[in-house]
Amino acid sequence: MRLKDCHNFHDFRRLARRRLPGPIFDYIDGGADDEVTMAENRRAFDRCDLLPSVLRGVSDVDMSVTVMGQKLDMPVYCSPTALQRLFHHQGERAVAAAAEKFGTMFGVSSLGTVSLEELRQKHKNPQVYQFYFHRDRGLNTAMMQHAKGAGVEVMMLTVDSITGGNRERDLRTGFSIPFRLTLGGMIQFAIKPMWGINYVTHERFSLPQLEGHVDMSGGASSIGGYFTEMLDPSMTWDDVTEMVRDWNGQFCLKGIMTVEDARRAAEIGCTGIVLSNHGGRQLDGSRAPLDQLPEIVDAVGDRLDVMMDSGIQRGTHVLKALSLGAKAVGIGRGYLFPLAAAGQVGVERALELLRAEIERDMKLMGVTRTDQLGRHNIRYHGEFGPLPAAQGKVA
Ligand code: FNR
Ligand code: LAC
Repeated sequence: MRLKDCHNFHDFRRLARRRLPGPIFDYIDGGADDEVTMAENRRAFDRCDLLPSVLRGVSDVDMSVTVMGQKLDMPVYCSPTALQRLFHHQGERAVAAAAEKFGTMFGVSSLGTVSLEELRQKHKNPQVYQFYFHRDRGLNTAMMQHAKGAGVEVMMLTVDSITGGNRERDLRTGFSIPFRLTLGGMIQFAIKPMWGINYVTHERFSLPQLEGHVDMSGGASSIGGYFTEMLDPSMTWDDVTEMVRDWNGQFCLKGIMTVEDARRAAEIGCTGIVLSNHGGRQLDGSRAPLDQLPEIVDAVGDRLDVMMDSGIQRGTHVLKALSLGAKAVGIGRGYLFPLAAAGQVGVERALELLRAEIERDMKLMGVTRTDQLGRHNIRYHGEFGPLPAAQGKVA
């Protein structure tokens, strides 16, 4: 199986599985507890149908959107994810470059393996900096200053990870940074020697965003350990209010799921929120973001930009989210498997396929701009007749 044989999410996933040592594949692929939410994210898209309009003259499709002041050539961005150089030696460099080619935004994680400054200098497309709030306030201040100094466009504070999710696949393999593998995990690495050769022949593993604050030599720290030991579970809306004030620019919260929290985000001056359950990796049994879109868009859609992620694998998924009021959507595994499969060309192929799907699907839906999509384009299974009209000014 080669890159040119990859035509969709599942193909990239299969190729990534072949290339990656089992513990790394499972870290990307897995979710929390019984992975119910992870499966639900996907099923949410299958529960509703698109209603196309016809004969609208659709030769010129413009799928660009503006979100948090950033113009994106396509309504999909690469959501921030950790540890990308473990998945492919090009890591964040590949994702940033591919996103630039497609004129879209990319995220850099607090747990990123390339520095946010390097990426900001090299690329012109908008960059999101994903912030985890640490117990060490000095580290938080330093991270804010770095992002500001570098000219990062959007600050994105993740709020659904106040403690680590229960990732049982990782417990079984011993997945940690740096590695402290179980015997079974070690065997999994031994049977993927190409990954190992690439790993040891490229730049040493590091977490530049946390440099000087996390001692990587002091043994292994599992992802769960990072959350429970380094992040601050006492974080409240007051802390975030202060951060929003300090940042004084585009600021969004990732992991909002209720109307009440969405309203609070608007009140403290956030310019965006991302409805997300972290791809099913945190609270298992939590609702799919797609299903929360309508009520949250009704409540705050005229005050900030509502986005969503979790479960997006197809152009039609994107169109369903936009129809329900999302301004743009994020993908995680949707570019991570392509990255693991083939580096930058893999991510480019994934974005190209998604772009082509969105364009084709917009034509089939009878729309030439994303703002022509609305709730009139969606029906839930078992429902006959239109959904209640959107309240406020959001169509
Ligand atoms: C993530 N995600 C994530 N989110 C975040 O705020 N900071 C991070 O460091 C990471 N790291 C991370 C690693 C891996 C391997 C995955 C799969 C995900 C969550 C990510 O940004 C996004 O919310 C989800 O991936 C969206 O779900 P899908 O698209 O993967 O279904
Ligand atoms: C994860 C973290 C790092 O989902 O956000 O693994």
